[in-house]
Amino acid sequence: MTLILAHRGYAAEYPENTMLAFKEAEKAGADGLELDVQMTRDGELVVIHDEKVDRTTDGTGLVKDYTLGDLRKLDARFKFKELSRREQIPSLEEVLEWLAGTRLVCNIELKNSIIPYEGMEEKVIDMVRAYELSDRIIISSFNHYSIVQSYLLAPEIEIAPLLSEGLYMPWIYAQSIKAKGFHPHWRAAPDQIVTASLESGIEVRPYTVNKESELERLFKVNCSAVITDDPAKAKIIREKLFT
Ligand code: G3P
Ligand code: MG
Repeated sequence: MTLILAHRGYAAEYPENTMLAFKEAEKAGADGLELDVQMTRDGELVVIHDEKVDRTTDGTGLVKDYTLGDLRKLDARFKFKELSRREQIPSLEEVLEWLAGTRLVCNIELKNSIIPYEGMEEKVIDMVRAYELSDRIIISSFNHYSIVQSYLLAPEIEIAPLLSEGLYMPWIYAQSIKAKGFHPHWRAAPDQIVTASLESGIEVRPYTVNKESELERLFKVNCSAVITDDPAKAKIIREKLFT
């Protein structure tokens, strides 16, 4: 059955990449999460999509210029100002500690194609190993050098290249870098690409699938997973099709 991975947590209804969004995704019945990792000035891994804090917090400037302590002072409620509680940018450690007590899988996206954070792969791997989560984590990135580096450091942790455009026979490319799957934009995942990849033993997990018609299509073609902002909606559609 196609897994439902909550993109930046339950981002349709809660502030993206916050503990609230991750916990609500689990409550909504997601099978797993997708989250984005950047690095602070003091070398800490933090869960935030953009290189800058401006869009999703009340602060300004680059994540890499903040210490973890100063980042934690920012309010990450973002456009959900009606929430009574402040939300913080989580550290990756905080998320993994919580994740270890759940059954969720987790796609950690390394946000290192714009800023090449030195040593990010090793730090992520050390943390995944410390929480004994190697078999529930998929490391992805638009920076394919980085995921190959991750594979070389930790062949037991699955890697997946992110593809923003269609690739000719992407399953061959995935196999060539020892990835067991790839994460294409949904437009780059037509039925024939999904089917040919699955037949070659390569998993396909398209992002960010929010349209009902696309969710339905990908469930019907038995895609490995969908990465969606709205895990509750995806779950209803999946249940309707298969019960
Ligand atoms: O990992 C899938 C998707 O999140 C990639 O794009 O920009 O939403 O991180 P973005
Ligand atoms: Mg992402």
